[in-house]
Amino acid sequence: MSLLEVRGVTRSFYGVHALNGVDLDVEPGRITGLIGPNGAGKTTLFNCISGLVPADGGTIRFGGTDITRLRPDQVTRQGLVKTFQIARGFPRLTVLENLLLYAPDQPGEHVGAALLRSKASLARERQIMEQATGIAAMLNLTRVLNDKASDLSGGQKKLLEIGRALMSDPKLILLDEPAAGVNPTLVREIGEKLREIVARGVTLLLIEHQMDMIARLCDHVIVMAEGRRLLEGTFEEVASNHEVQQAYMGRRA
Ligand SMILES: Nc1ncnc2c1ncn2[C@@H]1O[C@H](COP(=O)(O)OP(=O)(O)OP(=O)(O)O)[C@@H](O)[C@H]1O
Ligand SMILES: [Mg+2]
Repeated sequence: MSLLEVRGVTRSFYGVHALNGVDLDVEPGRITGLIGPNGAGKTTLFNCISGLVPADGGTIRFGGTDITRLRPDQVTRQGLVKTFQIARGFPRLTVLENLLLYAPDQPGEHVGAALLRSKASLARERQIMEQATGIAAMLNLTRVLNDKASDLSGGQKKLLEIGRALMSDPKLILLDEPAAGVNPTLVREIGEKLREIVARGVTLLLIEHQMDMIARLCDHVIVMAEGRRLLEGTFEEVASNHEVQQAYMGRRA
């Protein structure tokens, strides 16, 4: 069974069809690439899947559960998170604080628990701290743990964005252009980190315009154009396809 099943998803903005009935499947345990020309609807699809922008029609199932009408926090709790095309987070907080903020079920969220500082809540706080420092170590962010997020390089900001996603212990991460605006050395490093994340059992759906990254990392590639899935296959298969080349040229085959 697919981990994620998208069926007939539509979404318009002021009469413009951003998504025209998208069907796609994401298989677990691998990196699926999602490519397509600017305006194809890739980010809109991510927004619909993650609950940020409600779909007008169609269904989205994750791990067998219908998540079509869930709010973003409910989708996150199901184990599905999304990173943003423009890295978000809190620029004036440190890297560590940014990570800690994205842990689910924080003891401090419950007034009672915060006042009592029960053994259980202290243990949970310690666990969250270990998780955050572990994720930072994996992403080579230990050195900058106490730096403000705004002081990070572009590539480090992207890594922090991935770290924030990992804090909720997801099964599937939707990555929206994790390598955009990043220097080539860090692009390679981000790619290596993504492989490591998959080796730990997380599934990835990756939007990226840098085709060398897609070619290097993706087991399977889905092409979108004009709000629809155009084609899917291995990178070699889709890259050599005439219709795909036409879509990128801004013309219809
Ligand atoms: N909030 C919105 N309001 C109005 N139009 C929108 C909105 N979000 C997306 N669109 C439109 O939907 C279409 C698809 O945009 P989307 O951002 O999903 O494309 P994309 O494939 O992610 O492109 P890119 O590769 O440039 O990031 C575009 O025509 C865009 O202008
Ligand atoms: Mg986009």
